[in-house]
Amino acid sequence: MLKKIEAIIREDKLNDVKEALREIGIVGLNVFEIRGHGRQGGITLVGRSGSYQVDMLTKIQLNIILSEHNLEETIETILNSAATGETGDGLIFVYAVEEAIRIRTRQRGQEAVMYPGDIDERKHRGKTYAPGGDVDSR
Ligand SMILES: Nc1ncnc2c1ncn2[C@@H]1O[C@H](COP(=O)(O)OP(=O)(O)OP(=O)(O)O)[C@@H](O)[C@H]1O
Ligand SMILES: [Mg+2]
Repeated sequence: MLKKIEAIIREDKLNDVKEALREIGIVGLNVFEIRGHGRQGGITLVGRSGSYQVDMLTKIQLNIILSEHNLEETIETILNSAATGETGDGLIFVYAVEEAIRIRTRQRGQEAVMYPGDIDERKHRGKTYAPGGDVDSR
């Protein structure tokens, strides 16, 4: 089963989170710059002409499609690297993924999102998938 992690994190935590994910073997991911607010509804800034409300704050959304076997380790890694303990640390959503297809090879499912040496391949080495098969790391 493939899962999608959608993590909404602080802009200034992106490098820490990326680095932590790379260390556990997460290779494929994408990143969006988004704007939104959580339950505080934004923040109040104080300027020279008084205070004003900023209701949409810039956040980073990270999407990762991965095997469910690596879900908890990856969530734990994001929790550890994205947290400051202050409000606005973000949220993580998890979805079930119907299908993934690598266009070049037509590989489907887990094989489509697996790269040599990544977290998924390491867990499956010697089991379902042979290492270094027809996959690439581009
Ligand atoms: N229900 C939601 N659906 C989709 N995105 C959301 C939702 N709630 C919050 N977000 C997104 O998550 C971002 C971060 O929210 P935030 O960390 O402030 O959550 P929170 O629930 O207010 O928690 P905290 O109390 O720690 O601040 C928001 O800027 C917004 O982009
Ligand atoms: Mg909040």
